[in-house]
Amino acid sequence: MEQYVMKGGTPLVGEVEIGGAKNAGLAILAGAVMSDEDVVIENVPDVKDIGVLATAIAAIGAKVEKTDRHTMRINGHDISSFSVDYEYISKIRASYYLLGALLGKYKQAEVAFPGGCDIGSRPIDLHLKGFRMLGAEVEIEHGLIKAKAERLVGAQIYMDKVSVGATINVMLAASMAEGKTTIENAAKEPHVVDVANFLNSMGANIKGAGTDVIRIVGVPKLHGSEYSIIPDQIEAGTFMFAAAATKGDIMIKNVIPKHLEAISSKLIEMGCEVEEFDDAVRVVASKPLKSTQVTTLAYPGFPTDMQPQITTILSMADGTSIVTESIFENRYRYVDELSRMGASIKVEGNTAIIYGAAKYTGAHVSAPDLRAGAALVLAGLSAEGVTVIDDIYYIQRGYEDFDRKLRELGATIETVDSEKALKKFILKAG
Ligand code: UD1
Repeated sequence: MEQYVMKGGTPLVGEVEIGGAKNAGLAILAGAVMSDEDVVIENVPDVKDIGVLATAIAAIGAKVEKTDRHTMRINGHDISSFSVDYEYISKIRASYYLLGALLGKYKQAEVAFPGGCDIGSRPIDLHLKGFRMLGAEVEIEHGLIKAKAERLVGAQIYMDKVSVGATINVMLAASMAEGKTTIENAAKEPHVVDVANFLNSMGANIKGAGTDVIRIVGVPKLHGSEYSIIPDQIEAGTFMFAAAATKGDIMIKNVIPKHLEAISSKLIEMGCEVEEFDDAVRVVASKPLKSTQVTTLAYPGFPTDMQPQITTILSMADGTSIVTESIFENRYRYVDELSRMGASIKVEGNTAIIYGAAKYTGAHVSAPDLRAGAALVLAGLSAEGVTVIDDIYYIQRGYEDFDRKLRELGATIETVDSEKALKKFILKAG
């Protein structure tokens, strides 16, 4: 089992390149199977969730070729099965995008009920409601979601809750339905826009992505395309907070600053300097951090996927902060681990009261999920002494070469896979 081991206390300084957005990439890979021609996708992040989805796509008969570390060529011409029950697929949340994609193209799909990070109950009722409104029969049997339609016909679909997944999934299916579909109360996240742009590059007719009403006119066929995935908002945000955590100065390159505005404004409130360039942001944290209040919201609000990172940093700020999690119900499981490192946080329902001025000290902790795992790394990098993090496969699901990128900024961090390697690090760094 791999672990991260790190010695904190070094300000991170330098430049880091952000990769393609995992959550856009997952939907785009699934969408690529909707064409019978070659679809070349660039800026694909080399993270575990993408690898699992690519294997699942290959297992149903699509050609999947990795032409370099960040480019994939996918061709859905030879798909021979509409049942995606590959053993690992249920572990990733985005497996459900194959439902929308296969249902749209073949009018039938069977996909293992999705898993993903355990951050509270994660229903998929809105996805299924959308498919049903397009005319599909949907059943859940033996851990599989089965969807089938004689014809898929466009419809007016109101999302009772703003959902990234349901918006994208319905968009995938509706892009090959007959006639017009309107998705109301749609999610506006950058990756929703990216998936719409991608599908349009294949010949789909989708308008309004990025607003809360998306209009789709179905087309009978999608053609081949070449498309480059947008930069990852959350990876970028995590490095922005790494600067704040370590009193550093980091130039975060290959980003879309507009996607980072909610994160930038919180950092500015906390006393950091944030400078925006065309495709980069620089975060300088030279002053003591100040407390603030944050509520996670759908885009353009503060992203729930940055909640563990900001909570971790606010623990070091002067004064008391309040973080309210409004998207997921159980997203504070990492707080016990942070407390072992010296944080003082009280969780009441979906609110965390953070008594600041913590001085983190290194400890042996465990990553409870992807983003919380990244937050523990930030705590470890700012802590006095050595921190060991177990279960880092969660972090590797969504961050490419996280330890290498941090090392290049001056961090003392290694991935180790044995007791011997761990001891060697401690001897050298300690
Ligand atoms: C996606 C992201 C995840 C991010 C989240 C919110 C992927 C693979 N994951 O997750 O990293 O944290 O968006 O930005 O892209 N809901 C329902 N019924 C549904 C669907 C959702 O009630 O059918 C609820 C959820 O429980 C949650 C809220 O809607 O409270 C938002 O969830 P959603 O936006 O769908 O999140 P995901 O797409 O699962």
